[in-house]
Amino acid sequence: MAEVILSMKNITMDFTGVRALDNVSFDVFRGEILGLCGENGAGKSTLIKIVTGIYKQTKGAFYFKGNEMHIQSPLDAHKAGLSVVHQEIKLVGSLSVKENIFLGHPETGNLGLIDWKKMRRKTLALMDRLGVTINPDLPVETFSIAQQQIIEICKALSFQAELIIMDEPSATLTEKEVALLYTIIERLKQEGVTIIYISHRLEEVFKIANRVIVLRDGQFVGIEPIQNLDRNQLIKMMVGRELGQEFPEMNRPVAIEEILRVEHLARKGILHDINFSLRRGEILGLGGLVGAGRTEVIRAIIGLDKKNVSGSVYINGIKRAIKNPSSAIKNRIGTITEDRKKEGLVLDMTVDNNISLANINSILKHGLLSNKIERKIAAEYIQKLRIVTPSAKQMVINLSGGNQQKVIIAKWLNTDVDIYIFDEPTRGIDVGAKSEIYKIMEQIVMNGKSIIMISSEMPELIGMCDRILVMHNGRITGSLNRNEFTQEKILELAIQ
Ligand SMILES: Nc1ncnc2c1ncn2[C@@H]1O[C@H](COP(=O)(O)OP(=O)(O)OP(=O)(O)O)[C@@H](O)[C@H]1O
Ligand SMILES: [Mg+2]
Repeated sequence: MAEVILSMKNITMDFTGVRALDNVSFDVFRGEILGLCGENGAGKSTLIKIVTGIYKQTKGAFYFKGNEMHIQSPLDAHKAGLSVVHQEIKLVGSLSVKENIFLGHPETGNLGLIDWKKMRRKTLALMDRLGVTINPDLPVETFSIAQQQIIEICKALSFQAELIIMDEPSATLTEKEVALLYTIIERLKQEGVTIIYISHRLEEVFKIANRVIVLRDGQFVGIEPIQNLDRNQLIKMMVGRELGQEFPEMNRPVAIEEILRVEHLARKGILHDINFSLRRGEILGLGGLVGAGRTEVIRAIIGLDKKNVSGSVYINGIKRAIKNPSSAIKNRIGTITEDRKKEGLVLDMTVDNNISLANINSILKHGLLSNKIERKIAAEYIQKLRIVTPSAKQMVINLSGGNQQKVIIAKWLNTDVDIYIFDEPTRGIDVGAKSEIYKIMEQIVMNGKSIIMISSEMPELIGMCDRILVMHNGRITGSLNRNEFTQEKILELAIQ
């Protein structure tokens, strides 16, 4: 009989107007990797925040190694041996790696003085244990997100963590970094560390988890050994219904008329002689590994990067100088960027205000802003994208990570432009809402608009695009038509 390391008993969590968790009970076994799945807003992050003392549950209790826990703060949790690698990194960017790791529990020498040498040595030993090298003396902000996650894992280990919870750790990592993360997880498991792993990438859950627990609308749905489930069964547990087809039927007419042409686009050292055109009514995919230069192409087109950029952009055959994102909008190009927190949302505004943000015209009536129209539009997207929120008047900051993303997508879907550029549109979004977004994309192109989509998920590119351009090291390495799409071909061009 496996030892129970963490036991959740009847956990309920109420926020104003929202029951985020409803009487949830389950056990986690020592040494297992437990996948935690559920739609956006199901309550996953909330559960984790309770275990680590960020929220205090409204009802219920939880037990760690048999003892009831009353954790008041993340530091308390760390000290008890319970650590989290959050959806958003929680390190202090300006402090060094070793300072971050030993923040709250510094090593001291004989006279009670802080012993930097010892902390440095210990940091190096922790890195060594994970098989990575990161300079312990540099500020955390000089490292990539992946490296920062590793630093968080080191911090957890410095507290002798016995349970580490990872909240969508792979969402922003490159393929190589994900591979490293898996290796680290495997090592931790061999050392007997227990891991709870939250992810919307179901393949990943099947790859690394021993068991999976599913939450839906704040309620416990089930917990199963992974080998008892297939993808469809897991999806059904998550969304509570058969999903049906993930991608729309592809019977669009072949697009012919050119709307956008890019000639000899280059950015010194980063992009090299990029040439392509986009047609009216077409979804053009940009494939390739993370870091291949796809986002940079978009940034150069919409005027976000200007330094060392050369080349020409034609819209409807006319050469245009696009100097910044607002001149892109004037040229009827709308962009959903990769970094949505920074560039896409106003967190302390309501859901409906955010949705109308990029298209004030849509809510004007006789030249005046109409709250009624604004509410109606918001209600439509809340329903279509299944945005989990008590009302359109909720502040966006109170929504779950994935639901915040949906609001940004709604904002752009509600915008009247001719060219939509989506950079990783479904990252962090659950399977059910993904297929709704695909349907809306299909409607957009059926109405004669065009889409450029960057995606690292090959099934998504293959399921949605008319053509795919593949990039590697800042160059376009190939262009595939629909009848040529296979994962192998895309990958071949992506890793040349
Ligand atoms: N501080 C808060 N105030 C009000 N409501 C909140 C707060 N934090 C979370 N919620 C609500 O609780 C519910 C669960 O949110 P949670 O962040 O746990 O979801 P999640 O499963 O992590 O989703 P995602 O996959 O999108 O990250 C959501 O409806 C969310 O809007
Ligand atoms: Mg979450």
